[in-house]
Formats: sequence, C-alpha cells, structure tokens
Amino acid sequence: MKNILVTGGAGFIGSNFIYYTLDHYQEASVVNLDALTYAGNLENLKDVKGDPRYTFIKGDIRDRALVESLFDRYDFDTVVHFAAESHVDRSILEPELFLTTNIIGSQTLLDAAKRHWKLAPDDKYSRDYRQGVRYLQVSTDEVYGALGPEGMFTETTPLSPNSPYSASKAGADMIVRAYHETYGMPVNITRCSNNYGPYQFPEKLIPLMIHNAQHDKPLPVYGDGMQIRDWLHVSDHCSAIATVLEKGKIGEIYNIGGNNEKANIEIVKLILRQLGKPETLITYVKDRPGHDRRYAIDNTKITTQLGWRPAYTFERGMHETIDWYLEHTEWIEHVTSGAYQNYYDHMYGGAKV
Ligand code: NAD
Ligand code: TYD
Repeated sequence: MKNILVTGGAGFIGSNFIYYTLDHYQEASVVNLDALTYAGNLENLKDVKGDPRYTFIKGDIRDRALVESLFDRYDFDTVVHFAAESHVDRSILEPELFLTTNIIGSQTLLDAAKRHWKLAPDDKYSRDYRQGVRYLQVSTDEVYGALGPEGMFTETTPLSPNSPYSASKAGADMIVRAYHETYGMPVNITRCSNNYGPYQFPEKLIPLMIHNAQHDKPLPVYGDGMQIRDWLHVSDHCSAIATVLEKGKIGEIYNIGGNNEKANIEIVKLILRQLGKPETLITYVKDRPGHDRRYAIDNTKITTQLGWRPAYTFERGMHETIDWYLEHTEWIEHVTSGAYQNYYDHMYGGAKV
C-alpha cells in the first residue's frame, strides 16, 4: 500500500484512519476524497494539513468523472472506502440519500478501480489485475440485522438489515461481492461493530450523551435503554483494517469486534458517573422505529486467521474518550453549529444542543 485513496476521510473513522496510516506507514501517501457533508469536518485533520504525503480533494464519490480523473492522476493501488451516510436516525427521515450515496457511490468507485487496475480493461473475460492492488469496503455489523439474547454474528450469518441505513450498506456489500465474483476484482469487506473515540459526530450515542451531560441537558435514551451494542475503540478498528489490507485473503469478509457488549443505559450511566452528574438527567424517549435489540460480533476469523487483537480495554477507551470530548469543547461547538441544530430540534423536540 503506497498510494491510498481514502473516501470519507473527514468523518469520524476516516480521519482516525488517516492519522493511523500516516503514523504507521512512512511510505504511504493518502488522498482523501470527501464531500464534506454535515458529518465531514476538516478540523478533524488539522494535524496532517502540512504533511506532503496527504492531499485533500473535496468531491462526491458519485461524481464519476471526478473519481476517474483521480485514479488517472494519483495511480492508487489501494482504496479504503469509508464515505457513507452513516446515521440510522437520519436514514429513517431520508432513505433515498442513503441508497444513492452508499450503494451507487460504492459502485462508482468499484468501476473506476476496475478500469484502472484490470490489465485488459476491455476484455470482459479477463480476470487479471495489477499486482498488489486492493479495494476495501468498510461495512458494518448492522447488515446482519438484530440478535436475540443469545448468539453472535459470524461472516456467514445471513444478511437481514432492518433500517434504511443497514439495508443500503448491505446493498453496497452485495455489489462489492458481485464485482469480485463477476470481474475478479481484488476486494475485501470488513464488518465492524459500533465504534467510539475522538472525532465522532455528536449525533451518535456516546458523544451526544457526553455533550448533553456536560451542559446539564436531558439525556434522551430510546425505549427502555436495554438495547445492546458491541463497542470497539476507533483506533482498534483502524488497526484491523490495516491488518486486512496487509494479510487478508482476497475476496474474504472479516468481522471486526472486541467482545464488549454493553446496554445503552450502562453507557449513559458510566458517562454520568465520570462527569459527576446526576442520573436524573436521563430521559426515556419514544423508541426508534425498527430499533435493533442486540448486536454482537464473533471475531474468531480475524483473530485466528490474521492475528489481529484490539489494544484497548473498554474501561480505558471510554475514560480517554470522555476526557477527549471534555478537552475539545471548541471542536464540538464548531461541528454542532448551523444545520445540526435544525436536525436536533427535529429529532428531540426543540431542546437546545
Ligand atoms: P461519518 O458519518 O462520521 O463520516 C462519513 C464521511 O463521509 C463524512 O466525512 C462525509 O462528509 C463523507 N461523505 C458522505 N457522503 C459522501 C459522498 N457522497 N461523497 C464523498 N464523501 C461523502 O461516518 P463514520 O462513523 O466515520 O463511518 C465511516 C464508515 O464506517 C461508514 O461507511 C460506516 O457505514 C462504517 N461503519 C461505521 C461504524 C460506526 O460505529 N461509526 C461502525 C461500523 C462501520
Ligand atoms: P447510534 O450511536 O445511533 O448507533 P447505531 O444505531 O448505529 O447502533 O446509537 C447507538 C445506540 O444508542 C442505539 O441502540 C440507539 C441508542 N440511542 C439512544 O438511546 N439515544 C440517542 O439519542 C441516540 C443517538 C442513540
């Protein structure tokens, strides 16, 4: 991996991945293609701005001409595709945007990579590609649907997405698979559990609850708060993606998770404890429609076949993450200004962020 196209690098996981890559791979250069939607923020990347190995391009992954021109100009050998509409609640309000960005956007990237990497691009029967090229689709455990109290998702669990977001991610996974099966494209798909850590947009559970608790605002817990998510520190997700790029078998899917199942209410209470705030701030609100009850990742394949292990314990990761948000109030103020306030008003009934 030398010339890497990272899409969605101004978002939460993408920005962490850019830091991770430039820190760990001295030879690597990264082009970050990001449309800078409400979720993309160049402030996330201020520490790499002057690095000659890093280039930012503002643009949409669905812009075919732009994507093709970037492959011509930068001769990528690796694509790590993060760019997506990523928030379940927004997908309930605006499903079409999720389908076009998440599915058509992925297919546009696959097409450009295929044209650029295939040795005989015009021969439909040829399956030969340049040495060392790879396309990695960053997917999610949500494509598997919801679990009851028992069991875990493995890579062979049937896809059964329940939200427009997870359905769009599953659709994207299917087109990635089809490009591998039909055209022989060298691809991987990773399916990770819920991430937490620095630079997560404060519409998601953990930063939203930290921010509200800090300002003594109500903490809106959906339903009974007993939904379970399997949490992983974002830097462990980045190291897992790098491991798949280095050692993953072409065409394979890898689940990524750290065996950290927690009920939402436990997380909310942990945040209140660390901030020294009262549990009376917890406000139970109407449940999300189609709310998945439980996610849990079986990480046996990536740990046994590729030797990946998460570095963070949940306790250390959450402690550092809460401190990070408390120390970066300016970042929060910047990203929650403007359009986000309208979304928050619509979602939570006019309460000020
Ligand atoms: P995010 O919403 O924080 O960031 C998404 C980024 O994509 C933003 O910078 C946005 O500007 C950009 N983007 C959106 N539409 C675009 C378009 N049309 N063209 C170019 N750029 C566009 O998301 P995230 O939490 O960092 O998630 C990144 C990826 O990881 C997504 O594919 C998501 O499905 C997946 N994932 C996320 C989690 C999680 O817990 N956050 C877990 C597993 C998988
Ligand atoms: P979220 O961070 O939106 O991630 P996802 O839906 O992709 O898992 O939500 C995590 C969990 O927290 C999910 O069960 C929904 C719940 N939740 C709340 O209870 N209140 C909130 O205000 C938000 C944003 C989420």
